[in-house]
Amino acid sequence: MDDLPDNSKEKQQSSDSDEQSSRKKKGVSRRDFLKLSGVSAAAPLVAKAGTLTQADAAVAEQGPGKVPVVLNVNGKKLRASLEPRVTLLDALRDQFELTGAKRVCDRGTCGACTVLMDGKAVYSCSVLAIDAQNNQITTVEGLGEPGHLHPIQQAFVDNDAQQCGFCTPGFVMTTAAFLNEHPHPTMEDIKHGLGGNFCRCGTYAGMRLAVMQAAKTLKGA
Ligand code: FES
Ligand code: FES
Repeated sequence: MDDLPDNSKEKQQSSDSDEQSSRKKKGVSRRDFLKLSGVSAAAPLVAKAGTLTQADAAVAEQGPGKVPVVLNVNGKKLRASLEPRVTLLDALRDQFELTGAKRVCDRGTCGACTVLMDGKAVYSCSVLAIDAQNNQITTVEGLGEPGHLHPIQQAFVDNDAQQCGFCTPGFVMTTAAFLNEHPHPTMEDIKHGLGGNFCRCGTYAGMRLAVMQAAKTLKGA
């Protein structure tokens, strides 16, 4: 702009002031235009909200409030009052203090939150608690406990199949579901079977050996 000849600068300034005075005459600045566009886009919603009661409007804005939820977890009926948006993972951890399932990605990619629903492995961060009421949920706490470890848990210990251990409950639960369906797995099967879980410490080799040991132990059981 500084390189413009003086007469060009004058033309530019004069054109700017013409534009401003034209806007003043029309009474609509660019900023006003954007504001008006936003209002008109929202108008149908506002009109619709106008037909709602205040309570309906609050529900539309924030979602329904808490509702009674009953979950079948590890053979027990657990009751809580939860908003429908609460995930199974959050219900287990925050309401029932079952903290074995871990929240890592919270978006269905890492497997740290894996639990069993009717024997199938699911990411509990991706299931709503309210939708899990008619299913049998098993968490790692329901598999075994210190002093009475499940053969899968024992196999993870025996094969040194954890480092920080954060991902381990998810791997253990995935293994439980996997061995239900593949009681005689090959190493290749195990590799694929655990493919939905991630371990940032990289203890995959130990875990695969653990799954193989657990398969043998469970076969003999
Ligand atoms: S926390 Fe659920 S898949 Fe990662
Ligand atoms: S043992 Fe650390 S993330 Fe798997």
